[in-house]
Amino acid sequence: MRKAIYAGSFDPVTLGHLDIIERASKLFDTLVVAVLENPNKTSLFTVEERKEHLELVTQHLHNVEVASFRGLLADFAVEIGATVAVRGLRNAVDFASEYQMYLINRKLGKEIETIFLAADEEHLALSSTNAKEVAVFGGNIEFMVPKEIQPFVIQKYGK
Ligand code: PNS
Repeated sequence: MRKAIYAGSFDPVTLGHLDIIERASKLFDTLVVAVLENPNKTSLFTVEERKEHLELVTQHLHNVEVASFRGLLADFAVEIGATVAVRGLRNAVDFASEYQMYLINRKLGKEIETIFLAADEEHLALSSTNAKEVAVFGGNIEFMVPKEIQPFVIQKYGK
């Protein structure tokens, strides 16, 4: 039984995240999509809202579970019995920071392997930050955020 974890802020979930979730769900028996509860970071959506969004957009994926965690990814992975951490890579900048995170997670001495999935070319410019930047000025976020989530983002900015 192979269980993997795909952790992130998902503030909000983007089409790039969803693509990685869909592809990773085919590689493992169970994929846990885990929202980091980070009290040091100001977010647009609460952790509960982000979990609801993820549940909404992954309804069609029967081996995907949504969770949240505090603290270290490596610790949470052990707690839930996940042996693989999935990360998406868009470019060399991602690679540099993701590689560091991989090394740190490995140093933490836990039995967790990291696999990287290359982003689809359609999603190379997508990030939650970019989606918020466009939405705050009333721009079209159709190509950035799953359609079910767009109204929530637009509503947050009162557009
Ligand atoms: O959405 P993001 O910012 O790409 O997600 C990053 C995340 C949540 C995967 C990463 O920050 C994380 O795992 N945080 C938990 C703390 C941790 O384990 N840090 C160790 C690596 S530096």
